[in-house]
Amino acid sequence: MIEIDQVYKAFGAQSVLNGVALRVDAGETVAILGRSGSGKSVLLKCLVGLLRPDRGTIRIDGQEVTALSAAQLDQLRRQIGYVFQNAALYDSMTVEENLAFHLTRHQSMAPDRLRQIIYEKLQTVGVEVALHKYPSELSGGMQKRVGIARALVLDPKIILYDEPTSGLDPITSREIEDLMIELKKRMGVTSLVITHSLQSARRISDRIAVLYQGQIVAFGRFDEIAQSEHPFVQEYLAAVNLEG
Ligand SMILES: Nc1ncnc2c1ncn2[C@@H]1O[C@H](COP(=O)(O)OP(=O)(O)OP(=O)(O)O)[C@@H](O)[C@H]1O
Ligand SMILES: [Mg+2]
Repeated sequence: MIEIDQVYKAFGAQSVLNGVALRVDAGETVAILGRSGSGKSVLLKCLVGLLRPDRGTIRIDGQEVTALSAAQLDQLRRQIGYVFQNAALYDSMTVEENLAFHLTRHQSMAPDRLRQIIYEKLQTVGVEVALHKYPSELSGGMQKRVGIARALVLDPKIILYDEPTSGLDPITSREIEDLMIELKKRMGVTSLVITHSLQSARRISDRIAVLYQGQIVAFGRFDEIAQSEHPFVQEYLAAVNLEG
């Protein structure tokens, strides 16, 4: 469903992605681990055309992302839910307006139906109380959930989650993880999830990819990652173990 091949991306003299290769099968959830600043968010942005790789190919559902026209890219983005690291809501709009804006950008819809879908998605992530509030009136965790609800409004085939549970309390984190597992099971959604929690990666994903110095240095099931002899992966696992 997602095929990333030899992707390079630099900002000026700073090279961030150095030949990333990764494949995500339909219906699969892959977690991406890596240090802060290693290029995880940059990689996700390349997938939806928010950033353009310098080299390499990205195919989503058979379509080469970098070769798409603006209209084709728009069409592709309808099928991809993107949960931004910082919820990325418009401050001047209520939660309902934020979600409506996203939904009606891609298709027109009767107002009643629109309201119904928005309410349903907010309910799915447990923040229907936020409906008429402005982002600034919400806690960080609520903003995160609204960001997830927004990613769900178009019933995407693919969801890209950029640290969906960071900064949330353990109970809320678990609820979000359960939701991600549910979406995969019930709707067969294909997902890429960036997380700093190995425990969470183990729980929600089929396979784990470790990004280091712009490349995927380990890719496999949790038990395969745990046996990786790559020094960075070992260091990562040791650090997690020290945390308890
Ligand atoms: N639009 C941009 N212009 C210039 N540099 C950028 C841009 N976007 C990202 N970078 C740089 O690319 C590097 C990787 O950033 P990225 O946001 O992908 O890190 P990350 O792995 O998601 O980190 P974190 O875990 O902290 O979110 C950083 O050094 C960042 O400063
Ligand atoms: Mg990031």
